[in-house]
Amino acid sequence: MRKIPTNSPSSLQRDELPLDLLGPHVTQGASSQERLYQALCHAIVGGIAKPGEALPPSRSLAKQTGFRRNAITDAYERLIADGFAVARVGSGTFVAARIPAKVHDKPKTRTVIEQPPHGALALGCTHIDSQALRRFRAFAGRRLRAFGSEHLHYGDPRGSHELRAAIADHLLTARGLRCDPDQIMLTSGTQHGLRIVLSAILKAGDQIWCEDPGYPTARKAIEHCGARPVSVPVDAFGLRVARGRAAAPRARAAYVTPSHQFPLGVQMSMPRRLELLDWAKEADAWVFEDDYDSEFRYDGAPLLSLAGIDHLRRVIYMGTFAKTLFPGLRIGYCALPETLVGPVTSARAALDRYPGTLLEGAVADMLNSGAFAANLRKMRGLYREARDVLAQTLSTASNGRLSVPVPSQGLHLVARFDPSTEPAVASQAKAAAGVEGWLLADTYLRARPIPGFVLGFAGHPIPQLIASAERLAKASLAALQVQRKSESGTGRSGIVKASKPSPARLKR
Ligand SMILES: Cc1ncc(COP(=O)(O)O)c(C=O)c1O
Repeated sequence: MRKIPTNSPSSLQRDELPLDLLGPHVTQGASSQERLYQALCHAIVGGIAKPGEALPPSRSLAKQTGFRRNAITDAYERLIADGFAVARVGSGTFVAARIPAKVHDKPKTRTVIEQPPHGALALGCTHIDSQALRRFRAFAGRRLRAFGSEHLHYGDPRGSHELRAAIADHLLTARGLRCDPDQIMLTSGTQHGLRIVLSAILKAGDQIWCEDPGYPTARKAIEHCGARPVSVPVDAFGLRVARGRAAAPRARAAYVTPSHQFPLGVQMSMPRRLELLDWAKEADAWVFEDDYDSEFRYDGAPLLSLAGIDHLRRVIYMGTFAKTLFPGLRIGYCALPETLVGPVTSARAALDRYPGTLLEGAVADMLNSGAFAANLRKMRGLYREARDVLAQTLSTASNGRLSVPVPSQGLHLVARFDPSTEPAVASQAKAAAGVEGWLLADTYLRARPIPGFVLGFAGHPIPQLIASAERLAKASLAALQVQRKSESGTGRSGIVKASKPSPARLKR
């Protein structure tokens, strides 16, 4: 595990640094962590700690100031990120040779990064804790300053060994999946991973089982690769393998979300998992396991992954940092069966050579330092609250007309009308409420859609979640009222009958 230098004692280092934590350079009312940072800046700018000089070991400064050692390490990381200090692995943290020319009298109290605008109840949003974000910036800054020759040349088509090794560790502890870093390939996300692997295994016109309802974005990627998606219905136990066998017994692969079916949220039962793996073995087929959100499990321990059960023989495991960190990172990964490593690596080299290397080190630092796990712990608490608020508000404000099972995992939930409801009720309510979540019907391929919504609760402030849920529930009641009037012939309907789902017009 790579360690962040925390200044180990050395003969060249001072053990103390006079710090003024109360002077005018310190913002009144700022957090103690912020005051520590400001006092350190002041000591550097004021020449108390001179350019090139070693800062005290974190342990000594913690003892001197009464701060926790973590707080000192965080402050040092921020000094590094802001150019006041540099880290030398194995030696410690030093005042930068040239400190930033313009120093604000009152350093900013915190790093504010505006969230990009996204619509109410949109899927695909995450919240990143400000401490995790600061650490990510510090890691990224440090990596850029240490920029070396490894970034100057073409690299391994699977991406950096360092991040692949960190991911292999994570998969073992978090998902019970044992694999060698050589079996991991970094991608720019799940779709990209699908495309690379498919380009290695597909023959023109091959069929691929897809969950119905399912993740339209994956289905589109499969179609773009020239394969034929085969709709396989989902029930309370996950993909109905027998229906897949009946529809396309010799399909080349199946794409599934077994831990938390997208969008319905069911977990594939163990008999179904074994049935699916049996079929794959018999048909010499592959199974894509899209494990997009299992880091966010709210009840009970995470389930063993399908790839873990299969020991990565027939299953291609796909993970992403889009939900655990943020989508804009564009880093995901596949864990490949050994027999696929060669063909998929060649396919990758032919498609886009290899992934960009600049941010890989910073992501590895997040994983190895524990900052990634700490962020997950915090986000789990936050998202659980958001989930409960959204489910409760939708259910109460719609007077129970929307049924909202509370998911035990993930960042979205499904709200359903009674199955006899006209599908257009959902589209009209969504348009009237001005929310951006999806129509449940748009995730269906052939199976008969249930009218309802797929709504994201992560990355939305609680007051906004409540307001959006109330608007959607109110608009749903109004649309139901119009349907009732139209059925009883007492008014003009305005509800358009629609028996098939609208073509998926989905962004993700
Ligand atoms: C089912 C499913 N798989 C995968 C992803 C992640 O996709 P990517 O890694 O391409 O951002 C998402 C994101 O919303 C998803 O809903």
